Amino acid sequence: MWLVVVLVGIVTSTSNAYEFSLPRIPRRSKSLSPRLAMTSTSSAEDSIAVAVTREDGNNKKLLKALESRLAGRISVLEVPCIAHADGEDYALLAEKLRSERWDYVAVTSPQAAIILNSAWDSVRDDPIPVTAVGKATSEALEEYGIAVSFCPSKAIATTLMLELPATRVTDATRVLYPASAKARTTLENGLRERGFEVVRLNAYDTVSAHWTHIQRTNAEKCQVACFGSPSAVDGWLRNSNNNTTVLAACIGKTSADVCRDRGWPKECIFFPDKPGIEGWINVVEEAVDALVSETV
Ligand SMILES: *[C@@H]1O[C@H](CO)[C@@H](O)[C@H](O)[C@H]1NC(C)=O
Ligand SMILES: *[C@@H]1O[C@H](CO)[C@@H](O)[C@H](O)[C@H]1NC(C)=O
Repeated sequence: MWLVVVLVGIVTSTSNAYEFSLPRIPRRSKSLSPRLAMTSTSSAEDSIAVAVTREDGNNKKLLKALESRLAGRISVLEVPCIAHADGEDYALLAEKLRSERWDYVAVTSPQAAIILNSAWDSVRDDPIPVTAVGKATSEALEEYGIAVSFCPSKAIATTLMLELPATRVTDATRVLYPASAKARTTLENGLRERGFEVVRLNAYDTVSAHWTHIQRTNAEKCQVACFGSPSAVDGWLRNSNNNTTVLAACIGKTSADVCRDRGWPKECIFFPDKPGIEGWINVVEEAVDALVSETV
């Protein structure tokens, strides 16, 4: 890597002598060494390896989007950090959908869309309005033929709870919320404060994946990891012996806060103001740029 930097220096020195005589001093030389060592041993010498960490099979959209935006600059490796399991209330979901009056079903992740679809046949002919937290979740629902009637202006629970329109004047608007057992109580608490009635079912759970030997080897090559949830961050740490060397490109602030709490240096955490695939890809690009310009 120094060799590459020096060569670039020589090439650019014809146009700007200062670039060669005054090389940029890395701010964090401590963390720089493992990353530099890795680049020189990676097979694609010029591309930065980026890990996608959602559940096995759920990374395709992000992977494609990254490869088209950052073509030639990165190679994307699948390193699943989470896996999904049924939650303790899963068995109640179909019956709850069918047997009570609901004004909305609230869906806050693509995984919740998969879970809802598996129970949706009980109401498919007389569907309940569905609210999705953001674009990726909406698309997942629509792929299953489940119509989305409301999507908030920002893809986070706080915005959904503030913006979801009440549909009843005299009695409470009723929301069924099939959630991850690990989801915080932000959404149901906020809606209840606005006078909604919310029934939360812990319909699925998010657990750490266990890396195979190949996945571990791939993870060690990566200089950037994409984290789509706090569980993905924890899955990464559990499988890597708490290694926080990788730059964390987070889908939003919630995952970024968890990285900071778990010991990542602030300058190694990247997250967009507006959560979503688009902003996520932007911050992966920022992380890649930071590696190239050696500002991390
Ligand atoms: C941490 O992971 C990086 C790759 O992301 C690797 O190069 C480094 O050796 C690891 N450090 C430890 C202490 O395992
Ligand atoms: C990783 O960190 C967690 C929490 O600080 C700790 O409980 C665990 O033992 C650590 N694991 C390893 C392998 O160091």
